[in-house]
Amino acid sequence: MLELGCGRGEYTTRLSEIFPQKNFIGIDIKGARLWRGAKTATENKMPNVCFIRAQIQLLRHFFAAGEVSEIWLTFPDPQPQKSRERKRLTSPRFLEMYRNILISEGIIHLKTDNKPLFEYTIETAVSNNFILSCGTDDLYSSLLKKSVPDIQTKYENIFLKEGAAICYLKLISKK
Ligand SMILES: C[S@@+](CC[C@H](N)C(=O)[O-])C[C@H]1O[C@@H](n2cnc3c(N)ncnc32)[C@H](O)[C@@H]1O
Repeated sequence: MLELGCGRGEYTTRLSEIFPQKNFIGIDIKGARLWRGAKTATENKMPNVCFIRAQIQLLRHFFAAGEVSEIWLTFPDPQPQKSRERKRLTSPRFLEMYRNILISEGIIHLKTDNKPLFEYTIETAVSNNFILSCGTDDLYSSLLKKSVPDIQTKYENIFLKEGAAICYLKLISKK
């Protein structure tokens, strides 16, 4: 499982405890943020966790085709300006990168407080041959809450304190 733009890597470290038989990798460009998750993993001797400090654009250099079963995108920068669409982590070029390293019917999860990014992702994913498995624009008022791991990242906690609704969706990759 990959957590992309993982920041402090809350999903990476928490899910690794829940699923000790799987491997978890957090990727972020900011070393100071990764350090928090790496420290937790080192101190708790977590053998199935690692962190990579890198640009997500370079994913294909780290993973072979079909090597990844699941991807979590946890509160990616929404990049709202049209001129920055290419930088959105759910733009067509990123989705294609994910498809290449995912297994057949691999899973992508997105959590965001940003409704335009949530809607953009659904539209972009469906028109790029991904299946929308489920989604909600208010996770904590939805029945879906029961099927999503109850983990909150640093950014999620900030947004929750501000009273924001949290959007969640799950995509299935088709080859
Ligand atoms: C809004 S923060 C969210 C951090 C964390 N997932 C959370 O929810 O607390 C977005 C993170 O994505 C990382 N990021 C954005 N674009 C990236 C890219 N192209 N490659 C690697 N990391 C990226 C940033 O460094 C930042 O830590």
